[in-house]
Amino acid sequence: MKLGLNNIPHHWIEEIVNLAGERIVVVNREGVILYINSAYCEFLGTSVDLAIGRPVEDVIENSRMHIVAKTGQKELAALHPINGSEMIANRYPLIIDGELVGAVGTVMFRNPEEWRLYQSKIQHLVEEIKYYKTKAEKIQKSKYYFKDLIGKSASFSAVKSLAERISGSQSAVLILGDSGTGKELFASAIHNNSTRASFPYVPINCASIPEHLLESELFGYDDGAFTGAKKGGKKGQFQIANRGTIFLDEIGDMPLAMQSKLLRVLQEREILPVGGQKSIAVDVRIIAATHRDLEKMVEEGKFRQDLYYRLNVIKIEIPPLRERQGDIELISMKLLEKLERKFYRKGIKLSDEVLERLNQHKWQGNVRELENVLERSINVLDGNTIEIAHLPLYLRDQETVSLPKKESDSVGKASVNAAMPVQSLKETLAHVEKQAILNALSATMGNKQEAAKLLEIGKTSFYEKCKLYDIQ
Ligand SMILES: Nc1ncnc2c1ncn2[C@@H]1O[C@H](COP(=O)(O)OP(=O)(O)O)[C@@H](O)[C@H]1O
Ligand SMILES: [Mg+2]
Repeated sequence: MKLGLNNIPHHWIEEIVNLAGERIVVVNREGVILYINSAYCEFLGTSVDLAIGRPVEDVIENSRMHIVAKTGQKELAALHPINGSEMIANRYPLIIDGELVGAVGTVMFRNPEEWRLYQSKIQHLVEEIKYYKTKAEKIQKSKYYFKDLIGKSASFSAVKSLAERISGSQSAVLILGDSGTGKELFASAIHNNSTRASFPYVPINCASIPEHLLESELFGYDDGAFTGAKKGGKKGQFQIANRGTIFLDEIGDMPLAMQSKLLRVLQEREILPVGGQKSIAVDVRIIAATHRDLEKMVEEGKFRQDLYYRLNVIKIEIPPLRERQGDIELISMKLLEKLERKFYRKGIKLSDEVLERLNQHKWQGNVRELENVLERSINVLDGNTIEIAHLPLYLRDQETVSLPKKESDSVGKASVNAAMPVQSLKETLAHVEKQAILNALSATMGNKQEAAKLLEIGKTSFYEKCKLYDIQ
């Protein structure tokens, strides 16, 4: 085979150059046009015949090609005004056999507007890819089995075996539990242990989908349902989940109007796409979950009672971590194994003191908070043993305000806390107040609004106190 362009028939070359350069011009050292393609001429309002052989500055307004052909200095992505619009031009010196013989110019976009359009199209694609990537990762990650649910405490084991037993049933399941207790894990495990396991498992977070999209996301839409609707319509998640399971997470955050529509699906076992005429039958098992108190919401008129009854056929209540005797240690060990793999470490242990501290903590963020604490500790760990000093500040600072363990300790005398120094009452209260705020923040992963709610104080007062105690 010959090298370079020699294999390409000579009459192909022009077309190849056209395709590669879109708009392209070639000048000699004197700045006379040797070649210009028709796309460029069209934009300039001239023709190839008229342009060839003329000085470039006569043909192209504001051209600098003749300058580049002399200086040999390339100019990339230069803004080039022509006909009142700006183009983005690249100008390269043409060097053949080490000698400057002229210059080649290309125009990438006719104007910055076109460039922005191009960029925004790419931006859209990048965002879409990101969305689908996290979604795919989530689906991948959301494949859990009962063996993945760690915990041997009596209260947890009871819930776990109940969930295992009801996996095979076709009835709706309502999973209740504080944030971070493992509701998503249970939903996935129930699906994977059911007769529907080989069909889709579709998790939907009702709180994270914008309200105006929820209906079309769940039920899909028909062709031309609204402006911007995709041609041919779009399948809803209920249809996608057909014969499988749909997991409606954060069901307590579903708007009332949607609750009525969901109720209809549960009763009729069919969905009506947005803008659609015909209902579509679906066979889907529903697992719903929330950290909210649905019964209270029903009383307050924020959650439909009839929907609540429909969902609450099988109720799974996951106990908070602090009520799961012994599970904190067990889960910590499992999590450490996982983290060791993630950080390429081995043999990481917890000191006895740390274990005691973990067992005393309230864990308002439950297993998710425990995961965070351990990961943060490993990040600052130098040796192999996690000590108190490696814990996040709010856990480190915690005074052991423990109540007397055995009743006999306190018989006949007031309990004394040796760990607590004797200070003025004001200082002591301030200390406790600061601790309460830090605990609430840790439980909500730093979300101040949620933390204020936990403490049952107003947002403003919460922010004031943060400022007072220098809490970020
Ligand atoms: N019993 C458990 N065993 C192991 N990991 C758990 C357990 N419960 C929760 N987790 C972990 O805690 C985190 C929070 O669980 P998730 O199911 O998202 O909680 P929820 O949906 O109740 O807020 C997840 O990373 C999960 O892997
Ligand atoms: Mg969740």
